[in-house]
Amino acid sequence: MRAASSELLVTTDDGSYVRKGFVTDVLKEVIEDKKDIALCIAIGPWPMMRAVCNLTRDYNLKTIVSLNSIMVDGTGMCGCCRVSVGGVTKFACVDGPEFDGHEVDWAEMARRSVIYKPEEQKAMERYTAKAAHKCGCGCGGGK
Ligand code: FES
Repeated sequence: MRAASSELLVTTDDGSYVRKGFVTDVLKEVIEDKKDIALCIAIGPWPMMRAVCNLTRDYNLKTIVSLNSIMVDGTGMCGCCRVSVGGVTKFACVDGPEFDGHEVDWAEMARRSVIYKPEEQKAMERYTAKAAHKCGCGCGGGK
């Protein structure tokens, strides 16, 4: 990243590397220091991209987000990457994955992101129980 950048600014949530803070803390400073920014491109976890868009909207700074992080099969078949952009249903894997971040319905994305939470929790409990089973009998922890 350093080799491909004229300037690289690093921040970590816990301060374990370089600077403590959020992407939006650094981005706000950059926007206010350099008034001639034409485009912001945000790539990463969707909550971070949402936070970036919430910030850049205040500065009327066009922001492109990459929603590949919500894709599963990448073929347009599973529907996991469905997202509303400008009030129109899109699929990140077919129609994107880059979109105007200010047009993405982030509230809908937040609701969709937890839709399988109970099933994910049950799967994790089964996995954890199975991983903890170490009888050495080769049964794999049962069911
Ligand atoms: S990733 Fe499955 S439909 Fe897009």
